[in-house]
Amino acid sequence: MTRPPFTGQTAVYGIVGDPVAHSLSPLMHAHFAAGTGLDLAYVPFHVRGDAFATAVRGLAASGVQGVNVTVPHKEKALAFADESDSAAQAIGAANTLCFAAGKCSAHNTDAVGFSRALDDTGLDWRGRRALVLGAGGAARAVLYALAQAGAERIYLANRTLSRAEQLARDFAALPLRPVPLDKAALAPLLGEISLLINTSSRGLHGEEHPEIDFSCLPSTGIICDIVYNPIETALLYQARAHGLHTVDGLGMLIHQGAESFRLWTGIHPPLGAIRNTLEQWLASIPAANR
Ligand code: ATR
Repeated sequence: MTRPPFTGQTAVYGIVGDPVAHSLSPLMHAHFAAGTGLDLAYVPFHVRGDAFATAVRGLAASGVQGVNVTVPHKEKALAFADESDSAAQAIGAANTLCFAAGKCSAHNTDAVGFSRALDDTGLDWRGRRALVLGAGGAARAVLYALAQAGAERIYLANRTLSRAEQLARDFAALPLRPVPLDKAALAPLLGEISLLINTSSRGLHGEEHPEIDFSCLPSTGIICDIVYNPIETALLYQARAHGLHTVDGLGMLIHQGAESFRLWTGIHPPLGAIRNTLEQWLASIPAANR
């Protein structure tokens, strides 16, 4: 993928995070730029916690047109912006900032990314009963997406139960039921679950989820992991071994990025080859650097 040299006309975007070196977003947006023929650059910016507002103000003042925001800045991004969309407000965090006409607008494309990744499967996932594992920032986006999709009931299991209970208070309008992340507590619930989503960081290093007894899940169950490195986590491997439908985290990553790209440029990038590109990139990274 070679691109023409940058000029004074090149539109500049980027991602702000700490850490940011591992991010797949620069590769993904370079791919989107090539696919649309737009003249744009996408740059990783390593910005530490207390420098967020100074850095983002400086980027906007330098003519950068928008940035993605990742850990640990997503809540700060929402507070920083002059205006925000309803998803960012409900989730309490923003992953996309647009700078235009002297204003900063905040958006959250994680929830729509999750929904589109599930839509891609062609499976009937809306309006069902779900079990969400984890109660951090990623869980908030997934809960919002499930609510938008009319989830009938959502069990929320977290290692620290009090965080799940707090989330249930934060999302009081949702049919949320906090439960302990415990095999005995989960076993009787699994039979009524159509959708299980891991939003916790367990799985990043090959960890399994011993609290889930896969044989209790209905054979039509859909198991998702928002972890995308490894692409097939231990959770997905086991689910597949039990004949269940699985959805990995790459789809959500791709769709949230594509939606950010659309917000900035007004154009939906073609997604045809992007999954392949990201899979190849992930496979090329030595395990120790992932
Ligand atoms: P993020 O914004 O990416 O969701 P986070 O706010 O740090 O990150 O939340 C991480 C989530 O993964 C939490 O739900 C955390 O559980 P705790 O609230 O008990 O800390 C969960 N998590 C992290 N490591 C875990 C592990 N080894 N087993 C189970 N849950 C884990």
